[in-house]
Amino acid sequence: TQAPPPAAAADIAVIGGTGFYSFLTDPEEVRVETPYGDPSAPIAIGTVAGRRVAFLPRHGAHHDFPPHGIPFRANLWALRSLGVRQVLAPCAVGGLRPEVAPGDVVVPDQLVDRTYRRIPSFVESGAVHLPFGDPYCPGLRGAVLGAAPDVTDGGTMVVIEGPRFSTRAESRSYAEQGWTLINMTALPEAALAREMGQCYASIALVTDMDAGAEEGSGVSQEEVFALFKANLERLTGLLAATIEALPDPDGCTCGSWTDGVELTYDIPGQT
Ligand code: ADE
Repeated sequence: TQAPPPAAAADIAVIGGTGFYSFLTDPEEVRVETPYGDPSAPIAIGTVAGRRVAFLPRHGAHHDFPPHGIPFRANLWALRSLGVRQVLAPCAVGGLRPEVAPGDVVVPDQLVDRTYRRIPSFVESGAVHLPFGDPYCPGLRGAVLGAAPDVTDGGTMVVIEGPRFSTRAESRSYAEQGWTLINMTALPEAALAREMGQCYASIALVTDMDAGAEEGSGVSQEEVFALFKANLERLTGLLAATIEALPDPDGCTCGSWTDGVELTYDIPGQT
């Protein structure tokens, strides 16, 4: 059962770069305390396409947190405590294979976890095993894909620990597996959203070809930031069109895996 939503409530969240602040109308900032510490930043709640949308800058308001230092659990718990059941997650990614190129927007359908020093779960005791064969919500993926004609459907994203980019040998071995994209933040974020019973989809902007695929000197942070900045307007437009087309989360199974499961952590608002 759902408890009544808090006063500052939102149905939908966008977890993304600081550039996305501007797309909320009349944002109101809320500070949320969680059992897992503070989220990356105060959460801005505003209106997009008539819907209440929460925005959380993943790396902090001033890019305070490197990928391996992001308070992922606090972020997802805080959003759920505001009522959020659908999470759209724009992110910068490297391309591993010639099917993708910088500037492409891809909605991945699979994940590979190559992180190794993050807290990956809200589960700290007991036998709670969540289904994750399909890590992304089909309804959310469909809404993103339907919102613009130039978005690529599907691809496997490997998530590395960072903060360093991959060596050429690492990058080539990922590409040889058939994996198409590389990133540092989609895990444990996507798994924690599933644990919170939320629908989740990544919207991946290819900012560079990773070291194994490119001829030049390897990936640089400047290259990644510049490409993301150049595509910000396009991404905010895509997000707004997606939000307008989001399905009703009640019709989705992303949250129903908890039915009858004795959870050993609290989902805020759920009793
Ligand atoms: N984010 C953007 N580009 C990346 C890359 N090449 N590797 C890992 N994360 C990234």
